[in-house]
Amino acid sequence: MPRTPYIAANWKMNKTIAEAAEFVDALLPRIAATQCDVVICPSYLALQEVVERRRGTAIRVAAQNMHEEDWGAFTGEVSAPMLGEIEVEAVVLGHSERRQFFNETDEALARKVPAALAAGLEPILCVGESEAARDGGETEEVLERQLQADLSGVEGADLSKVVIAYEPVWAIGTGRTATPEQAQEACAFIRDVVRMRGGAADELRILYGGSVKPANAAELLSKPDVDGALVGGAALDPGDFAGIVEAAG
Ligand code: 13P
Repeated sequence: MPRTPYIAANWKMNKTIAEAAEFVDALLPRIAATQCDVVICPSYLALQEVVERRRGTAIRVAAQNMHEEDWGAFTGEVSAPMLGEIEVEAVVLGHSERRQFFNETDEALARKVPAALAAGLEPILCVGESEAARDGGETEEVLERQLQADLSGVEGADLSKVVIAYEPVWAIGTGRTATPEQAQEACAFIRDVVRMRGGAADELRILYGGSVKPANAAELLSKPDVDGALVGGAALDPGDFAGIVEAAG
């Protein structure tokens, strides 16, 4: 069974509720025929608006983070059951911006990934090396360390329910896209790590993220182990995002 391409828009801290609504209305007619999984990750505040607007369409909705506990004294946090209640279907976990600016740790991720699965949310787990790690030849070591730690609480049989996004830190928001060969090499390595952990690695969807644009998407997505894209900047414009969805076939 070929893997269904998976294209996700990570809006980060962009778009008000009104802007989110405008985007969805503009995107829908442009991607009406797509066979891909199309996922939008708005801010918490715009989640419900996007859930309502996409009703009856193929678009799915993901949050950009969540807390690992279901409830409790964690001021400012949102839990997996709260996201599920408003029909959010997935959640981005471990984005490098959260690791870098908000002290997201592998220990927290080891609890967040199973908590998301338990609540019926699809985790989109982000991993990726820094520029220094790549220059030092440590890319695989970093990826393996992150994967082993972040997936430590997931049973082998559940591993393929996780979507993994390979996002090299040096390619995020920099315009410096990884070459298709670099993306393929890292995604193939990630698949091997999951296979070694006993996961159904052939079913696992692995995305590339980092300066994906309509102009470079087709080449990246043509690689056998690159099953989709997690798109930041180019996902803020419905025309550009639709172009990337189109490139995925
Ligand atoms: P850019 O596409 O803006 O490089 O962002 C990538 C990203 O971080 C998606 O999560």
